[in-house]
Amino acid sequence: KKKMILDLDTGVDDALAIAYATAAPDVDLIGIVSSYGNNLIDVCAQNSLKLLELLGQTDVPVFKGLAHSSTTDHFDVMQVSLDIHGKNGIGEVQLPAPQRQVESQSGVDFYIEAAHKYGQDLIIVPTGPMTNLAAALKKDPEIAKLIGNVTFMGGALTVEGNVTGAAEANIHQDAEAANTVLSNPDLPLTMVGLDVTLRTLLTKRETQKWRDLGTAAGKAYADITDFYIDAYYNLDIDKNGCALHDPLAVGVSLDPSFVKTISLFMKVVHEGPNYGRTIGNNAKLNDPNPNVKVAVNVDKDRYLQTFMNYLTKLFSQH
Ligand code: BDR
Ligand code: CA
Repeated sequence: KKKMILDLDTGVDDALAIAYATAAPDVDLIGIVSSYGNNLIDVCAQNSLKLLELLGQTDVPVFKGLAHSSTTDHFDVMQVSLDIHGKNGIGEVQLPAPQRQVESQSGVDFYIEAAHKYGQDLIIVPTGPMTNLAAALKKDPEIAKLIGNVTFMGGALTVEGNVTGAAEANIHQDAEAANTVLSNPDLPLTMVGLDVTLRTLLTKRETQKWRDLGTAAGKAYADITDFYIDAYYNLDIDKNGCALHDPLAVGVSLDPSFVKTISLFMKVVHEGPNYGRTIGNNAKLNDPNPNVKVAVNVDKDRYLQTFMNYLTKLFSQH
């Protein structure tokens, strides 16, 4: 069985990523590393603990990563993040205080330990800033060759960004870290960016099915996700539903056939007006064996069906 680490800034769609990784039959979720982004790192870590408890996953450890990017000394939550994900990151739904705490080991060291322990069986799915993974690669460069795959939610190749015209939110938080990860030639990467996630929408027809289950998890996840769907509508991001950014990355990491990809050497612009842009690296246009598979199309119907099968079954049990 594959071993998965999620690196989350939990967040409504990160919450859906936890559910997908928990429900998928062919993988062990061995830990969640916490990042900052949709909220402060401590809020994001607490959200992950609460959601794991809601889903009965009290044996999945949560680790704290770094609290801000390597190029700043602090992190402020953007107002738009609070508007989209709610002031508490999970749609202003109140879940019980978690019984457990975060681990004492740092998320960066957990990455390094897991890479040496599981090697090619290890799948890493970052769906927030890539600060933690970049720090692990700097601390122990050996791990790039060991890790099976990194499938991240972030970036935009064929469409505009969602924070600036150039930059998607996760990349915009720490473009330097993203560049460290994307330009590592030894690390097998798959980019699941706005190119595909903005096409993969969920509506209240689906969340109503979870609510109808009558379980605590079904109701909480329906409420959390409805907040996000309302925000998409009210902020005019999309009137037809909310984007399944983060759970799509988890799905693609387990079944790459959900997306069509092109292979490129990528880089991330980390200076100037295009800060945060994810783009092919001109200097490596003729190099064989590019390291990044960039998703450019998605079989959204088949993905959505799988997503609903997994999550509805999971929520019916909790
Ligand atoms: C990404 O940014 C975060 O706000 C979401 O959770 C998602 O990971 C979308 O750009
Ligand atoms: Ca996220």
